[in-house]
Amino acid sequence: MRVLQVCAEIFPLLKTGGLADVAGALPAALQAAAGAPTGPGSVDVRVLLPGFAAIVAGLHEPVVVADLPPRPGVTGARLLYGSLPACASLPGRSLMAYVIDAPSLYHRNGGPYSDAQGHGYADNHLRFALLGWVAARLTSGLDQFWRAELVHAHDWHAALAPVYLRAAEQASKRRLAASVYTVHNLAYQGMFAARQFAELDLPDSFGLVDGLEFHGQISFMKGGLFFADHLTTVSPSYAREIQGPEQGCGLEGLLRMRSRSLSGILNGVDDAVWNPRTDALIRHHYDARKLSGKARVKAALQQELGLAPRGDAPLLCVVSRLTEQKGLHLVQQALPRLNELGVQFALLGSGDAGMEAAFRVQAEAAPQSVAVRIGYDEAFAHRLIAGSDVILVPSRFEPCGLTQLYGLKYGTLPLVRRVGGLADTVDDAQLETLDDSATGFVFDEFSAEGLLEAMDRVLALWRRPKDWALVQKRAMASDCSWEPAARQYLDLYRRLTGVLPA
Ligand code: ADP
Ligand code: GLC
Repeated sequence: MRVLQVCAEIFPLLKTGGLADVAGALPAALQAAAGAPTGPGSVDVRVLLPGFAAIVAGLHEPVVVADLPPRPGVTGARLLYGSLPACASLPGRSLMAYVIDAPSLYHRNGGPYSDAQGHGYADNHLRFALLGWVAARLTSGLDQFWRAELVHAHDWHAALAPVYLRAAEQASKRRLAASVYTVHNLAYQGMFAARQFAELDLPDSFGLVDGLEFHGQISFMKGGLFFADHLTTVSPSYAREIQGPEQGCGLEGLLRMRSRSLSGILNGVDDAVWNPRTDALIRHHYDARKLSGKARVKAALQQELGLAPRGDAPLLCVVSRLTEQKGLHLVQQALPRLNELGVQFALLGSGDAGMEAAFRVQAEAAPQSVAVRIGYDEAFAHRLIAGSDVILVPSRFEPCGLTQLYGLKYGTLPLVRRVGGLADTVDDAQLETLDDSATGFVFDEFSAEGLLEAMDRVLALWRRPKDWALVQKRAMASDCSWEPAARQYLDLYRRLTGVLPA
């Protein structure tokens, strides 16, 4: 089966969040789950990416597949094909990628989606419409040697792939390919002014309410949700939550209407990147049987951050985008009390300027127990997660969340709010259920009090080192691999392409 993954970022070349980790790991996981690389049952997975400078630079031995016809906002664009170094989990095999080379659209000073001030680029509708348009054309001959049988688009940036596909099918009056659209975060929708619809070169009817129209504007996300054959999101809980008003972002009605074609498939962790036994970014390695390396990573981390060199104080960490979603103001409110409790705290994050400043002030006030590093630093994220005792993820909402999974693998017990993928991946340690299933700490109420209540349980367990080690071992034994997810996606692909009964 020929599958095209369509997304805007991919680890290790370009990453702003968990989407890149998923895009970097899923193709290899799918190939591994399908078994032999060729023959019956195999999958040939390729990815399609916008030609951001980092992605074009990382594409090995590119060849030109096609010169793209002029489209609104761009002339002279080309489709390149080559291999990516993203396949750490399948050594010896390359991940093959199509990249849209259109420097006028994709090479910008600033981030991939917005400028240095955080404002979305004015032509984002054109930049990401082209991604969807090329995806659809790869089902019908844009590459004369390869036609996708299934297009799997991720998040709003790729959401027009199923839309252009449906438009092409209507025009040609034949089925071209199946489509899956995965929502990684419903809160980022790709909203544009209604007048910009005309520049998308879609049938007029697609701009109406049974299409992209959303409260007088157009929404790329809604287009994907409306036109894809099947919708997935990155955890079963989030698949349920987005069908209600609290987390539906106004799209809950459509999601309920499509509920029979909507499922949740939990993300995994790429073991080649996040594994305390082999992690190239930490100095001391460890596993569940021998945790002494973890204590050494912690000591080095305390030294690096200027924290008091105390093995007996639990070290809590956060690695996160600093946005409303992540609930980190609860941590800010709880920090004074945490200091009184003798806990250490270290944060790596960037985003909201007010939140960055507030965390900096808290670190300056208590340098022995609070350390804050503002910025984006992949290697430091590994050291921090490996060296801490607890990782905090108190999100308001969380489609899946990956850092709590890294915490599980590194024996860094997650303290999370019971929402979305956090609820699906962490089992709460009530002190009486320790022998059973506990892998971390879970709280319900979205408040500093809720967080502190769970902290009481952290500290109670911390005072019982044998029990702490038991929970740690169980956390480290959790199955965070991509295998179950890859099997579920493969089943879905096979049903949608008719290989398996629907
Ligand atoms: P989201 O995608 O909503 O940001 P996830 O938990 O799914 O949340 O994924 C976040 C990813 O980004 C993880 O791989 C995490 O380690 C990484 N990350 C977040 N902030 C930083 C940072 N400041 N420096 C390095 N890595 C970060
Ligand atoms: C999004 C979500 C996060 C999820 C990630 C990867 O960024 O916010 O919860 O883990 O996508 O699917």
